[in-house]
This record gives sequence, C-alpha cells and structure tokens, in this order.
Amino acid sequence: MWGGRFADGPSSIMREINASIPFDKKLWRQDIRASLAHVAMLADQKIVEAEDATKIVDGLNQIAEEYETGGVPEDLDLEDIHMHVEARLSEIIGPVAGRLHTARSRNDQVATDFRLWVREAMEMVDDALDALQKALVSRAEEHADTIMPGFTHLQSAQPVSLGHHLMAYYEMVRRDRSRFADARKRMNESPLGAAALAGTGFAIDRDKTASMLGFDNPTANSLDSVSDRDFALDYLMAATQCSLHLSRLAEEFVIWASQPFGFIKLPDSFSTGSSIMPQKRNPDAAELVRGHSGRIAGAMNALVMTMKGLPLAYSKDMQDDKPPVFEAHDLLGLSIAAMTGMIAEVEFSGNRMRALAESGFSTATDFADWLVREAKLPFREAHHVTGAVVSLAEEQGCGLADLTLEQYQAIDSRIDERVFDVLSVDASVASRSSYGGTAPDQVRVQIAKARQTLGLE
Ligand code: ARG
Repeated sequence: MWGGRFADGPSSIMREINASIPFDKKLWRQDIRASLAHVAMLADQKIVEAEDATKIVDGLNQIAEEYETGGVPEDLDLEDIHMHVEARLSEIIGPVAGRLHTARSRNDQVATDFRLWVREAMEMVDDALDALQKALVSRAEEHADTIMPGFTHLQSAQPVSLGHHLMAYYEMVRRDRSRFADARKRMNESPLGAAALAGTGFAIDRDKTASMLGFDNPTANSLDSVSDRDFALDYLMAATQCSLHLSRLAEEFVIWASQPFGFIKLPDSFSTGSSIMPQKRNPDAAELVRGHSGRIAGAMNALVMTMKGLPLAYSKDMQDDKPPVFEAHDLLGLSIAAMTGMIAEVEFSGNRMRALAESGFSTATDFADWLVREAKLPFREAHHVTGAVVSLAEEQGCGLADLTLEQYQAIDSRIDERVFDVLSVDASVASRSSYGGTAPDQVRVQIAKARQTLGLE
C-alpha cells in the first residue's frame, strides 16, 4: 500500500507486530457498512462518478457475502481489516477500488468501525441485563415473604426478606443499564470524514454519512475524532462496574451453596462434580463469574494504560484498543448469561434461611427498639439492657424468644409480656416498613415498580 516510499518489504517480525487482522477481523461488518455509506456520500457529492460508485457497492456486497460464508482470510501482509477489504475489492473490480479511499484515512475509518461495534455491544449488554433483571424480579416476587438473615461483616445482623436481597441486585443492574445508556448516547457521533487528522479538502458531507450510520451528528474536531477512544473506555468502565455486581452476587452464591450455610442448591446445569469426591457439587459457574470480573477490570486497565500519555492525534499504540474490549465483552456476556441462568433456576432453602435468621439473636435490635418505644428507656440504656438479655440467652443456649418473662423482668422490671410480639423474625421483618425497607409489603412496592419499568405489566 505504500510501495512508492519503501524499497524493502517488512521483515517477518515487523509483519507480525504490525498486524491487527487476527483480532480486528471482528470489525468486518462495520467496516463494510461504513464504506458503503462513505461511497454513497462520495457519489452524491460527485466526488466519485455514479458508475464507479455502483461497482464499489457491488464489490463490497460481494465481499460481505464471501466473509459471511467463508470467514475473513488472515493475511498478515495486509495488516488489518480495512486493507483486507480494499485489497479484495481491487481483485474483484480492479483499479476503480482505489477511489473508495478518497477523502478518508484508516484513522477515521477504524474510529468509525470501532464505534459502530461498541455501540452494538452496548445494546447487546443492555438486552442481556434486561433478562437478568426480569429473572431477579420474578424470583424476588416468589420470595418476598421468605426470611433470611441479613448480614453486616458477614455476621448475622437483622432478618430480611430474600426478595429484598434479590431486589438489591435489581437496583445495581438498573444503574449498570443507565451507565451503558449514558455512554451510548455520548459516543453516538461519527468520526468519518476526519480523515487522517486534519479533515479533508474534498467537499464531503459528514452529516450524511453520520445519519446513514445511525449517528446523531458528526464529531466536531478532526484531531479529537481520530485520537479519541473514550467510547471504548466508557464501555470498559461500565462493564467493569457491572461485572463487580455480578461478582458480588456470584460470591454470595458460593457462600450460600457451602454446607455450613446451605441456603441454596445451584442447578445441575451450572455446577460440576469432582473426579475424586463423589459428594461434591461445586459452584464453578459462580466462581468463574467472580474470576471473570477480575479479567474485565484488567482489560479496562489495559486500555487506560494504552491511552495514558498518547500525543494527538493517532498513534499505533491505539491499535491495541480492540483486544481488551473484545475480551471484556465476551466475558461480560457469558457472566451475565450465567448469572441469569443461575438466578432463574437456583433452589432457595427457605427453612434453612429461617433457621439461621432465628439464631444469632437477630431480633436484638427489635427488642432494644421495643424498650425505647414501649418502656420509654433512652436508646443507650436499652442497648445496655439488651446486651444483658443476649448474654443470658447465650448462657442458656437459647434464642431471645425462648427466655421467660421472669428472666426478662429479673434484668429489667419495666419489661412486660408484650415484648414477645417483637421477638420473632417475622415481626421484625414486617416492622421494617420505611420506604425501601425490608417489610414484604415494601418489597412488593419495589417489585411492582420494577415490573412496570421492565414492561411486565
Ligand atoms: N490497524 C489500525 C488500527 O487498528 C488502523 C489504523 C492505522 N492507521 C495508521 N495510520 N497506521 O488502529
């Protein structure tokens, strides 16, 4: 392609370090789509004759069919997907192919192709997250009244509704979707026509190519257009945050599936056995979702490091932008699908959750609140009395509801039999009816809202 300037061909090492075709062939659809828009615009602007434009369009369509059926060939000498398409085009239609590259450069071409790819990736993630949210909401609805221990420091804290716990993840995913939607809106500008870095002297129509490719408008600064990879970083950052959420849920599944917890049985379809220990049922899919989040964060860091300190406009370092995005996208897609499958099919053990919620004095706060409300103790004093009651129950090896009224009154005479109304986990959960609280009625309010947002009503 630059035979005029160079006497010798590239060494084989140069060929290898320079080539991006092994990974950027993923962009072939976007590359052809952008070229079709570009040549249509060139013809409209009379920069290329209509007859030549038709040949180019037919050639590009033929290449698309070839790639669709036979895959994209990988010739390291042809460096990247842009040169593969152009070289094949000239094989098919001859020297007219050379007119396609009028008023553009691979710099604006790759920026355009990659934006189109990332935009689609964002849309795919959004669809997958929609399915995950639907699965969460449906299981939450089923388990609004199921009681489990709520934790802080992974120590039993207060009983909560399992539906409430699942809806916490619905909220995280809601923010993830809004981050992707934000990024999609921000990135939807067309760099095509920025050419190498300075724009072009040809009378092109950038608005036209922008709208043909579904962009809201052309980018405003040609230097920024070819040097900007914010859209890829936005994708990776949103993907990282999303994968952190998936990883936390995965970690909870790993813990909940362990024998000491026994809160859940993961579906066979998302578990594996052990080749030596026949009793084993390992939460491999959850562990891999947890593991993949590290790789996704790593991919995000890789592109941050690549972009840091690059002078304007294009530098070849930027060719390294694609592998981390492609990798993160594959890992994220798998992780979301695996979590959606696990959520849909996991068996929750309501009995086991309730038993653990009832142990660990999880209604101690309810008791202290009762002392404040009904026996008019200052909260600090109530906290102290509650401590004494918990110590006694611990000594006796029983729960708070198992102590007798006499035992309570020996600790503080202001306690009467009404206290037993607040010591059960059901009463505790039902009482937390503040907005966003864990009372099943509140949980159902949030579920109804979610169902509406998801178009399930
Ligand atoms: N393969 C290159 C990339 O992915 C295309 C742009 C090359 N531009 C250049 N001036 N060498 O970034």
